Amino acid sequence: MMLKNTPERWGAVSQLLHWLSVVLILGLGVLGLVMVELPRSPRWFWVYDLHKSLGLSVLALAALRLAWRAYAGAPRPVPGTPRWQARAASATHALLYLLVFAVPLSGWAYDSVSGLRPLRWFGLFKVPKLAAPSQELQPLVRDAHEWLFWILIALVAVHAAAAFYHHLFQRDATLARMLPGRGAASPSSTPAAEIR
Ligand code: HEM
Ligand code: HEM
Repeated sequence: MMLKNTPERWGAVSQLLHWLSVVLILGLGVLGLVMVELPRSPRWFWVYDLHKSLGLSVLALAALRLAWRAYAGAPRPVPGTPRWQARAASATHALLYLLVFAVPLSGWAYDSVSGLRPLRWFGLFKVPKLAAPSQELQPLVRDAHEWLFWILIALVAVHAAAAFYHHLFQRDATLARMLPGRGAASPSSTPAAEIR
């Protein structure tokens, strides 16, 4: 399996970064929703700390991912893809990237304006605050964090449905080329059923 992306498929690094981010983002969503239902007591601070540290890791992974994409390039659209579909996919991917930055940044901003205890990444080093504490901004930024998360989830639902549609109905390599499997030589036009 190639590390770098080729014109036909995603390499190991892009695949790892994509699926690791998926697991972390969905896990953080569940953790976030459960966490806000817990009684506000020091007993549960560790859950908040875990959410924040993992969330900041997603931000770092997103930056790494974009840097790797700039270096390793991206595959061409699967042959036969109508132009409107390629455009819709690019627009969705751009929005997904935007939200993968915006959601953790808004969480970090919320932590900052709340004027909470110093934030330490997995207890290892102190993370700077993005803004001064502000009673006024606090509810706004908290709502922004929650809403941006739900917008991300809605977009992910469309994105995942499109991937499954390609795999099950178009029977092309869209999903297969984001999964570990045969090397870069697999022609991307090979029906997914044949390269499984
Ligand atoms: C991709 C990363 C992240 C995801 C998917 C995520 C998701 C969520 C969700 C779904 C909630 C519950 C919202 C609600 O129902 O009120 C939440 C709450 C929260 N998040 Fe995040 N979050 C992320 C990153 C971060 C980061 C990086 C920080 C801080 C450094 C952070 C700080 C918080 C805090 C403090 C709350 C509690 C808000 C409250 O008290 O109502 N989050 N997050
Ligand atoms: C938190 C959830 C997710 C996020 C944030 C996300 C984000 C992205 C982004 C930004 C890209 C474009 C990569 C690039 O151009 O650099 C991408 C590609 C892709 N994603 Fe996701 N994704 C998520 C979940 C999923 C799920 C659940 C599936 C499938 C079931 C999936 C399947 C794919 C596939 C197949 C591609 C490659 C598309 C192509 O080659 O044209 N993603 N994803």
